[in-house]
Amino acid sequence: MSVTLGIDIGTSGTKTLAIDDRGTILASASAEYPCSHPNPGWSEQDPELWWDATIKTVQSVLAAATFAPADVKGIGLSGQMHGSVFLDQAGAVIRPALLWNDQRTAVECREIEERAGGREALVKMVANPALTGFTAPKLLWVRRVEPANWDRVRQVLLPKDYVRYRLTGTFATEVSDASGTLLLDVVNRRWSRELLGKLEIDPSLLPPCYESPEVSSVVSETGFKATGVPKGTPVVGGGGDQPAGAVGNGIVRQGVVSATIGTSGVVFAHADQPRFDPLGRLQRGCHTVPGAWHLMGVVLSAGGSFRWFRNELGKAEVARGKEQGMDPYYVLTAEAALAGPGAEGLFFLPYLTGERTPHFDPDAKGGWIGLTIRHGRPHLIRAVLEGVTFAMRDSLELIREMGVSINQIRLSGGGARNPLWRQIQADIYGSDVHTLNSSDGPAFGAALLAQVGTGAYRSVPEACDATIRTVESTAVDPKVKAFYDKSFVVYQKLYRDLRESFRSISELVAHPS
Ligand code: XUL
Repeated sequence: MSVTLGIDIGTSGTKTLAIDDRGTILASASAEYPCSHPNPGWSEQDPELWWDATIKTVQSVLAAATFAPADVKGIGLSGQMHGSVFLDQAGAVIRPALLWNDQRTAVECREIEERAGGREALVKMVANPALTGFTAPKLLWVRRVEPANWDRVRQVLLPKDYVRYRLTGTFATEVSDASGTLLLDVVNRRWSRELLGKLEIDPSLLPPCYESPEVSSVVSETGFKATGVPKGTPVVGGGGDQPAGAVGNGIVRQGVVSATIGTSGVVFAHADQPRFDPLGRLQRGCHTVPGAWHLMGVVLSAGGSFRWFRNELGKAEVARGKEQGMDPYYVLTAEAALAGPGAEGLFFLPYLTGERTPHFDPDAKGGWIGLTIRHGRPHLIRAVLEGVTFAMRDSLELIREMGVSINQIRLSGGGARNPLWRQIQADIYGSDVHTLNSSDGPAFGAALLAQVGTGAYRSVPEACDATIRTVESTAVDPKVKAFYDKSFVVYQKLYRDLRESFRSISELVAHPS
């Protein structure tokens, strides 16, 4: 039996699962940990938490499973992207890692654009504009604000690559996660010496960069003692959580696109060529499929907007759900179903934590627009679901604009579980939508990459074809689609109309007196 492990180092927890070469999940385990926010907009985590959670979850998968540790043929890692772990000469962590959702680096983003010779020149070098969450501005922040720490830095790693280091003793990364550092020449799949030079960052701080299914290193004696996985077990490159999750959704051919609604919402497309968007509105990176790239639109508060509604305004539904033994989200969507498409002219902008795609705008704000005395809770809830879905459509439209055709849309995450939200997605995207047999996203994708890297399959698409299939389809309703097409034009205009007011509101909050 060819068993592989997939380990996903998420923001709220780590998930480990074991699969066989047919993609059957043999065991899985998760462990949660906290995130700290020492200042508004800051987001940090102690890398030790990831390693502890890895040990715990790998040990419990090995204990629960019907296979022996010696059957484990390989490990794939995936994890939250863009984070930075700073290590000293001895390989010890210097300070807590700065995470993908940390917003402290606006000054450094401007500095990077300036040093690069402007936004377009930067996008040409590394395929992306400087976004506050990315890794490179974090390096510059530590260099500027914590020079004593910076002097000690000898290696910078992404979150999953820190776990690789603890498991194997080797510094390594792979192209899909490295794309989110803003330091990778994405077109040529290697570190950008050009940008590193302009930023005066020593290239030796960065680890060697592999393709995702390639074996990067093997489990060390220390890794074996901690986890129970035999010494010498190969660890493949793996992938950032989104590109690895895309493998788990079978997004490994042009034309097949995923729409994943979790806390954030991600529209992910495979691209055979490194498509170039000079404005950098979509994130662009190397795919976990060697020789391919990806385009990605990220809505920062997708499921997060719905969760906010549940927590702040849905207390009655939460209580009812508890009484009836039902998920509160089902109670909320049942209520939303009482309102018709368009919620009688009520729109919701989901920019509760600013926005990344298509408006890179930390000042963007959320809100309902179009309220009248006739509106009630069903309209408010339905408008949230529709607003988030319009925001996802913004990314789909950008992908189409880049010349990537969309023949099939696959849904995953919480947004795929609810029939009403599936229908809203079909009608707003203007296309039938499909759900899959696998719902374990990044950890499953990482385990599949390990199957490829250890020889069970010749390629990532071959592994996906053998293990992933669509199980349910929701058909687009042409009448509702036509209505939503008109509504989408209004939705898009609302942000443009309000952009300046959002900035004024931020000013007001920052300087109340
Ligand atoms: C992707 C992104 C998030 C993080 C955390 O660009 O910022 O998906 O990887 O999950």
